[in-house]
Amino acid sequence: MGAVCCRPQPIDFDGEINLFHFVLLRCVGKGAFGKVRVVQHKQTRELYALKYINKAKCVKMKAVPNVIQERRLLEEIDHPFIVNLRYAFQDDENCFFVLDLMLGGDLRFHLERLGSLQEETVRFYVAQLSSALAYLHDINIMHRDLKPDNILLDERGNAHLTDFNIAVHFAERRLTGVAGSMAYMAPEILAKRGYTYYIDWWSLGVCAYELIFGRRPFRGRTNSDLQHSISKDPLKWPEDADKKCSRPGMQVLKGLLERDPNRRFGCKPNGEGYQELRRHAWFKPIDWDTLESKEQTPPFIPDAKKANFDASHELEELLLEDNPLKAKARKANQDNLSAEMRQMEEQFTSYDFKKMQRRSYYPHNQHIISTATGTSSGMASSRPGTPANDLRTENGISIAGNSLDGGDSDAIRGEKMVSEKEFS
Ligand SMILES: Nc1ncnc2c1ncn2[C@@H]1O[C@H](COP(=O)(O)OP(=O)(O)O)[C@@H](O)[C@H]1O
Ligand SMILES: [Mg+2]
Repeated sequence: MGAVCCRPQPIDFDGEINLFHFVLLRCVGKGAFGKVRVVQHKQTRELYALKYINKAKCVKMKAVPNVIQERRLLEEIDHPFIVNLRYAFQDDENCFFVLDLMLGGDLRFHLERLGSLQEETVRFYVAQLSSALAYLHDINIMHRDLKPDNILLDERGNAHLTDFNIAVHFAERRLTGVAGSMAYMAPEILAKRGYTYYIDWWSLGVCAYELIFGRRPFRGRTNSDLQHSISKDPLKWPEDADKKCSRPGMQVLKGLLERDPNRRFGCKPNGEGYQELRRHAWFKPIDWDTLESKEQTPPFIPDAKKANFDASHELEELLLEDNPLKAKARKANQDNLSAEMRQMEEQFTSYDFKKMQRRSYYPHNQHIISTATGTSSGMASSRPGTPANDLRTENGISIAGNSLDGGDSDAIRGEKMVSEKEFS
């Protein structure tokens, strides 16, 4: 009789997806809102990355609309160079994203260890990420947070874009909300006169420059210095630039870091900018026809014998986490939820890639209404005076500033700060 209580509950794999379907393995990442760990599906044995966000913390940080938006956009997206969503679900404590697992680590991790990357390697990533950006822009999505932290390698060394936390659908109207991580922000975002998806091509230029030279093109000791540098400073090359980058490579970097968005590389409308980029001499070694099938051998293959993750995530979880993640049955009574908790309950819906077709919530996703008002204390509003209904029509969220000091080549993990946000 005594053994009965210890027997695990049978898992209903035909029922709705939940945390009981997975074995929880090591922690591999931490971002502004969530933690990421490796999980294995108990039935299929497939490995995935589980990104989970504590709901109470999410309410406190006024990030409920962001999490719902990320969930909705990820359902729509499916591309070889994007970290795709496989399952989404929630329990009483957390919202969960189950994503393609990238065992090769993020590019911030590699940049910190190597100092800089070979031009040939960066060219390969720029080609793969350009393909991802062209796809996103074609379905009217701008990413807005392209930076090395959000570029992940699979175990073979192919680059994938992740973190759709501040991505948005864009309509005809231009956005004005300051969003992203400042060091990677295009000048037109900082100018606050409106911007469109062209900003992602600028961020790609900043990333490519940083990866090749080990330092960012525009820097400043304070956010305001950095802002000034992005808006005004002429593009300068490091002294040893010729040793690290070919002329055609510099031409591409210069083209992406063009301040006038209409002249910027990649930005000609209807995909023409992407086609122009593909034809550039720098990309001659890239076979664009087979790129998306991942047949080409990537120039940099992450070391499979080593963990390509910062060990501190796992240590932190073991030593400091007083509420370690555990599958728990849901409470039957959901009556006394706050407005934000109810919003998450209703709008962070389950997704199962084995059972459901991907779909777009656009333009219907304009109905994520933030129940949060005001700004988090201590965080400066980045959009003073912008009427809330401006965002309503644009479906924008504002995440501004960050802990990047912009100083020298130090590769500091950019942290997003929520300054204000409103979806509708
Ligand atoms: N699918 C994945 N596979 C492996 N590592 C991941 C995956 N997704 C995220 N990570 C790691 O976790 C970090 C944070 O994830 P991210 O989605 O960027 O969250 P945030 O929105 O909190 O920044 C990433 O920089 C990366 O190191
Ligand atoms: Mg991130």
